[in-house]
Amino acid sequence: MKVVSIINLKGGVGKTTTAAIMAEALAEKYQKRVLIFDNDKQGNISRLFDLYNGEAVPGACIALKSRHLVPGTIKKTGIPGVDLVNNNYFMELSENEIRADQETKQHDRYKAALEEVAGQYDFCIMDNPPDLGINVINAIVATDEVIIPVNLDGYSLDGLEELAAQVKNIRVLNPKVRIAGCLVTDFEKSKYSEAAEIWLRTKSGLHIYTQRIRHYKKAKDATIEKKTITKYCIRCGAAQDYKKFMEEYMKGGK
Ligand SMILES: Nc1ncnc2c1ncn2[C@@H]1O[C@H](COP(=O)(O)OP(=O)(O)OP(=O)(O)O)[C@@H](O)[C@H]1O
Ligand SMILES: [Mg+2]
Repeated sequence: MKVVSIINLKGGVGKTTTAAIMAEALAEKYQKRVLIFDNDKQGNISRLFDLYNGEAVPGACIALKSRHLVPGTIKKTGIPGVDLVNNNYFMELSENEIRADQETKQHDRYKAALEEVAGQYDFCIMDNPPDLGINVINAIVATDEVIIPVNLDGYSLDGLEELAAQVKNIRVLNPKVRIAGCLVTDFEKSKYSEAAEIWLRTKSGLHIYTQRIRHYKKAKDATIEKKTITKYCIRCGAAQDYKKFMEEYMKGGK
């Protein structure tokens, strides 16, 4: 099982959108067995697949606390071949509990839990929150590849260097983790976005996928209808872009 973490310290850059579309495409187009791991207390990807439950301790918290994916924590989505470990605001409490626990190791909890199901899936796609909390460090320790969705507007390139440095630091705990690449999302042509893209492609030192994802004006409507952009509007530019990105990703093995 390859563990792919979708991470950016910036919020609202398309992490959840990218994680969901990758999971669907891996299962539906590439016949892969996929586990989505919702590592964000907002539970957005759990909501998208109708598996959000604000009342019960979610699978991600159970995994973080127990180091196990106990029976019942892995839920079926409506998509054949795609299962999901859900999350909700209980994660905040779990993070505090883990931080307070000085007795046992803090950082390899997801790694231990995911190793239990490694034979059952080809990919685990982890959707992360926009921070570097203990659960995100746990995700990176369990990860083979990091994909960083980036927007080219405003301050959205801030934080990239910190994230790259953090991933490098975590190599002490997980030597195999690497940043596979950055994916430019929600792209709109402007003077600023052109300059930002040139910087990203020539100066950031990171691999930048050739394919970018165009802005899709009805993306919020798709979210409200609990559909990915690719399911909501097969022919729109962003859906086509994601399709091509997946081809690039699968071809490069990155
Ligand atoms: N290509 C796009 N064009 C226009 N809007 C988009 C595009 N991709 C995502 N969005 C919208 O941008 C918003 C943020 O996207 P998303 O939730 O995927 O970001 P995120 O990085 O996961 O955010 P957070 O940091 O809060 O978890 C959503 O409303 C989503 O529908
Ligand atoms: Mg998100």
